[in-house]
Amino acid sequence: MNALEGRRALITGGASGIGLATVRLLAAEGARVTIADIDESAGLTAAAEVGGSFVRIDVADADQVRAGFDQAASAMDGLDIVYLNAGAGTGETDIAAVTDERYRRALGVNVDQFVYGIREAVRLMEPDRGGSILATSGLAGLFPYVQDPVYCMAKHAVIGLVRGLGPTLAARGITVNAICPGMVETPLMSAEATAFLSARGFPLLKPAEIAEAALAAITSGGSGECWLCQPGMPAGVLGDGLTLADVEEHVNRMMAVLASPEFPYPKS
Ligand SMILES: NC(=O)c1ccc[n+]([C@@H]2O[C@H](COP(=O)([O-])OP(=O)(O)OC[C@H]3O[C@@H](n4cnc5c(N)ncnc54)[C@H](O)[C@@H]3O)[C@@H](O)[C@H]2O)c1
Repeated sequence: MNALEGRRALITGGASGIGLATVRLLAAEGARVTIADIDESAGLTAAAEVGGSFVRIDVADADQVRAGFDQAASAMDGLDIVYLNAGAGTGETDIAAVTDERYRRALGVNVDQFVYGIREAVRLMEPDRGGSILATSGLAGLFPYVQDPVYCMAKHAVIGLVRGLGPTLAARGITVNAICPGMVETPLMSAEATAFLSARGFPLLKPAEIAEAALAAITSGGSGECWLCQPGMPAGVLGDGLTLADVEEHVNRMMAVLASPEFPYPKS
């Protein structure tokens, strides 16, 4: 039997990149899937591909999250898995140039989403069936990412929320974990940025590799954990035989390349 037979999953940012790869994997593992995204056209296409549903939600909007999660749970007759994955950079390195509007937008998708999404997931998950919540953070949640300090702050915040909630939700039969990928080849990274990094010895991860790690995190039974995904090593839980020191040297070298003035940083 497939690992997720009979499970009902909602994935934000499921229309593209890491989210889309995870939609495909969870569906292949037998889950019914709802894609939640602001990109209606790509979301509908992806939903049709996996025989799932699409709901248009701006995850920064509490009312839309509540209504969209209700709609998904009602269409699938329940909710077992919620993967909060939508995210976007600010496109700005210089804090002096971060306008209020851009700051609020960044916090909406990269921070507010997790409070709104976890709140609604917990409300809709059935205690006797348990549930699994996963949040996408990133290396930027664990290391200084000087190219986008507001994004870096937000990705740290996600980890704080997951760690702070892990034991409490586990006691209610719901796990909540964070996944922390290194650089991944998705539309978030421009082709130029991908080529720049690869040429300097920093190959990007494939979205399908993060999807495999997401599946492992969803089914692990652990809670409040950070799953680290780096090229060339198996994804694993920080603290469980894996420490930041294991990747620090590699990450610091990569961050130095990212911080170089020549790096074609994707503007949002
Ligand atoms: N690509 C990387 O190198 C990388 C590395 C670490 C972490 N991440 C994180 O992974 C996650 C997925 O990124 P990706 O690389 O697959 O990017 P992507 O651009 O391919 O996908 C992001 C998806 O989120 C959706 N989205 C954006 N804002 C939204 C909103 N307000 N409401 C609903 N949907 C919204 C987009 O429409 C898109 O479908 C993000 O949280 C990102 O920060 C990416």
